[in-house]
Amino acid sequence: MDTDPFPTDLITRRTGDGSLTLHSPQLEVFYHSVHGAVQESTHVFIKAGLEFVGKKQVDVLEVGLGTGLNLLLTWVRCLEGKCTVTYTALEPHPLPKEQLEALAHCEDLAWPGLHEPFIERMTSPSSDWQVPLGGLTFRKLATPLQEFEAAAEFDVVYFDAFAPKAQPELWAVDVFRRMLHALRPGGVLVTYCAKGDVRRAMQAAGFTVARIPGPVGKKEMLRAIKPNAPS
Ligand SMILES: C[S@@+](CC[C@H](N)C(=O)[O-])C[C@H]1O[C@@H](n2cnc3c(N)ncnc32)[C@H](O)[C@@H]1O
Repeated sequence: MDTDPFPTDLITRRTGDGSLTLHSPQLEVFYHSVHGAVQESTHVFIKAGLEFVGKKQVDVLEVGLGTGLNLLLTWVRCLEGKCTVTYTALEPHPLPKEQLEALAHCEDLAWPGLHEPFIERMTSPSSDWQVPLGGLTFRKLATPLQEFEAAAEFDVVYFDAFAPKAQPELWAVDVFRRMLHALRPGGVLVTYCAKGDVRRAMQAAGFTVARIPGPVGKKEMLRAIKPNAPS
């Protein structure tokens, strides 16, 4: 049974760096920081996650595809020739095409040519791998995080669930234990959240966790690393 509180009252809001995000007044959640959607996603997921991993071929798992901003920023890195990526995104509540079009993320990122393939991938009813394009191979699964299982398949997890206040069950030890299992040794999980409870849940699951400087408007964020197996 799906018990996720999916917002039905989403409003488009402009953030501090000019890019757009979504806000649900009813659930009191934003899809990104009000200080800047693009700056937050770039800082937390691209710089502290994808670039920190520093591999040429990266397997990414995203928890909460939402508006697809992290996907697009990753895709741009691929198009710039920095890496190639296979990208698995979990999203039990995909956004409608009209809402994605209104956010105009591709225009904000000055990659208008990505608009069509982006919308096509975001709205595809299929959970199969999509045709690779520009160094990125993408699939979108409707599986909720609570039911997702994988073993040593990923280099980095973009943990972009709604805040613990809205969905505490997604920030629990058993969930982080499954994320640990899904990562390869040395793999990295990054999130915008810096709460002590969340850090302790990650540590209890077996991660080595660091508090690192957060994006504009936030002092800290968390980066959790799966320890290498003892040799
Ligand atoms: C903070 S938003 C993600 C923002 C997104 N990464 C972006 O760039 O727009 C959180 C997302 O988690 C999704 N979500 C809610 N429940 C979930 C679950 N059980 N498993 C995975 N994702 C979930 C929501 O539908 C929402 O799209």
